[in-house]
Formats: sequence, C-alpha cells, structure tokens
Amino acid sequence: MEAYLLDWLNLLLRWFHMITGIAWIGASFYFVWLDNHLLAPKDKAAADKGVSGELWAVHGGGFYNAQKYKVAPATLPEPLHWFKWEAYTTFVSGFFLLCLMYYVGAEVYLIDPRVADIGKATAIAIGIGTLAGGWIVYDLLCKSPLGKNDTALGGVLFVLTVAAAWGLCQVFSGRGAYIHFGGMLGTIMVANVFFVIIPGQKELVRAKVEGREPDPIHGVRGKQRSVHNTYFTLPVLFTMISSHYAMTYGNAHNWLVLAGIAFAGAAIRVYFVSRHKGPASPLPALAGVVALALVAFAMAPVSRSTGSTAASPAEEFARVTTIVQMRCAGCHAQTPTQPGFAVAPKGVMLDTPEHIAAQALPINQQVSTRVMPLANLTGMTDAERDAVAQWFAHGAPVK
Ligand code: HEC
Repeated sequence: MEAYLLDWLNLLLRWFHMITGIAWIGASFYFVWLDNHLLAPKDKAAADKGVSGELWAVHGGGFYNAQKYKVAPATLPEPLHWFKWEAYTTFVSGFFLLCLMYYVGAEVYLIDPRVADIGKATAIAIGIGTLAGGWIVYDLLCKSPLGKNDTALGGVLFVLTVAAAWGLCQVFSGRGAYIHFGGMLGTIMVANVFFVIIPGQKELVRAKVEGREPDPIHGVRGKQRSVHNTYFTLPVLFTMISSHYAMTYGNAHNWLVLAGIAFAGAAIRVYFVSRHKGPASPLPALAGVVALALVAFAMAPVSRSTGSTAASPAEEFARVTTIVQMRCAGCHAQTPTQPGFAVAPKGVMLDTPEHIAAQALPINQQVSTRVMPLANLTGMTDAERDAVAQWFAHGAPVK
C-alpha cells in the first residue's frame, strides 16, 4: 500500500513539475522570440509614447500588437503581469521530486557503490551542496570583473559545467549524476529569476513610481542572466528525460556523453536565438549536430567477440532465462516479490521465457550498461552479465 501511495505522489509531482516547467520555458522562449523580433514602431504616436519596438502576430483567432517601451510607459499600467511563479513552482516541484526519488530512494537511485561507496547522508549533502554551490560560484563569477566580458565568462562557465559533469559522475550513479547536473543548471536559472531578474524589474517599477531614472545596471544584469538561462534550457531539458536512456548515463564515459549533449543543446539554442534576429550563420547549429553525431558514434555498442560457446542455442537461452528470472523477475513480474514494488516497473515483465525472448534488446541494454538490476539489489554477477551479452551477440536465439 505504501509503495502504491508513493507511486501516486511521484506521478502527481512529476505531472505538476512538467506543467509548470512548460509554462515557464514556454513563456521564456516566447519572450526571447518576441524581444528579437521587435521592429521600430511605424506609427509616430507610438514612438512619441516611448515605444521602442513593436510586433504584430496572429494567433488563436485574433491579432496581437505587442509593444516594448524604451524605459517605462508614462503611467504604470494596472494590472501588470510579472511571469515569476512559473519558475518558482517549477523549482519547488522539481526539488520535491528530487527528494522523493533520489534522496528518499538514495540507495537505489543516487548511490552506486561501484562509482563511490558513500553513505546516504553524504550523498544527499553532496547533492544539495551541488545545487547551492553551483549557484554561488556562478553568481560570484557573473559579478566578478570576468562578468563584464560575455565571451570570456561563457568560456569559463562552459569549462566549469564540464568539470561539474565529470565530478558528479565520480560520486553518483550515472542517473543521479545527470539529474543533479540538470538540477544545478535549473537552480541557477530559477535563482537568476529570483535574485536578479525580478529584483531588476522591481527596481524599474520603483523608479517609475518615484519618478526617477532606473539604475541601468539592473537592466544589464537581468539581460545577461536571461541570455544564460536561455542557453541552459536545452541541456536542462535533456537531463530531465535522460533517465529514460540508460545508454547515455550508463555509458562508461557518461560525463563526456553529458558534456557533449549539453554542448549540443546550448549550441542549437544559440542558433535559434540568433535566427530570430534575421539570417543567421548555421555554424552553431552545425556544431551542435556534429557534437550529437560524435557522441552517438562514440557510444555505439561494440559487439563483443563472441567466441564459440559449447552450449547449443536452446541451452544458452535456458541459461539466460534462469538468470533473468532470478535477477530481474523479483521486480519485473505481474506481482513483484521485491519489497517496495507494487507493480512491474515501467510495465516491463521478465518472468516468462516468452517475455524474456521478446525483450532481448532492452534486457541486453540494461544489463550491459549495469543500470539493471536496479542498484544491483538482486546481486547479478559479471559472469551472468557476460552470459546475457553472449546470448544477445548470437542473435538472441530461443531454440
Ligand atoms: C529492484 C527492482 C528491480 C530489479 C531487480 C530489476 N529492475 Fe528493471 N526496473 C526497475 C525500475 C524501478 C525501473 C524503472 C526505472 C525508471 O524509473 O526509469 C526498471 C526499468 C527497467 C526497464 C525499462 C527501462 C526504461 O526506461 O524503459 C527495463 C528494460 C528493465 N528494467 C530491465 C531489467 C532487467 C533486464 C533486470 C535484471 C537484469 C531488471 N530490470 C531488474 C526495477 C528493477
């Protein structure tokens, strides 16, 4: 019953997190697009009002005319929409989801003794430290003299992010490392909204109310942080779906895979943002696609030398069936016997020879990347993993 209720909590949190995340990133993409498409107003009256750029759009059965003011309109409009709760609720729901999956279930999802044999409290402290530390270092760098040179800052941030990918993969399970990498960037994005962008907007409003010129530093800072946020978006979204792709986080060089895919995401976003402003060089997009291709090529499974086995195909399959039933079916069955599991995880059933034969590919993928058995709770041996790999390399015969 408890496992069942936890499944529901997980479902509701994940659903909520996805909805708020879409609302946030959707609005953020829209405003980046909007800002980059503004044209000087044709109408003199608009220009006289202080409008610096405007745009026409048609959507959902109507025409829209968005106008951006150089500083602020003559009188502060009511109501004024802010767009901040999308970011905050995404963070809060994401943090609870992280706690539920990776901290409550640290032994299973976060700690991999083959990577680092750390205790639960240590692992959680490193996890939360990563989220907070990432923001502190990033914020200090932006405020330092380096922060005045966008290119140099970008270079340093890139090197540090790759270092973080490497470091996380030295202490956590691949999956745990990837989610913390994404969590770290996501935390920076939300903190940018909370500590820099929104306070900057508040200063704009305050200056307006007090009838003085706003301090331009807030505008400059806010702009820099928004630009970073937009480039972090694609890498973060990749990490959020990465848990479905054991081939990435389960790879022996998982930190390089992560760095490569994160680079590709950022580069592709660079291309789209510059394209908003008119014809853009395709080089960033090309660099992203090449990076993805290189990662995919480097990750491609090498078929192990199979050698000739004395066993007949039928014997080989019988051995694999025994192994899978022993090591996997405790969880992957109609009624799991492993405590804490109410139903077969992801609906994957590995209890009968037919089920096993039909899922040779995912079985081999999970076993060779060592992602399954989950946290090796059922104690699968290397010899057993080799037996599965051999069977698969022989074409997964069943008789
Ligand atoms: C202790 C329980 C447990 C054991 C034992 C276990 N699994 Fe899993 N398995 C899970 C859980 C939990 C998931 C869902 C993981 C997730 O949230 O992505 C899963 C997911 C899977 C998936 C689907 C992956 C996806 O993302 O679609 C496959 C395939 C799989 N396991 C194969 C195996 C194989 C093969 C074995 C035995 C070598 C095995 N599992 C042993 C718990 C277990």
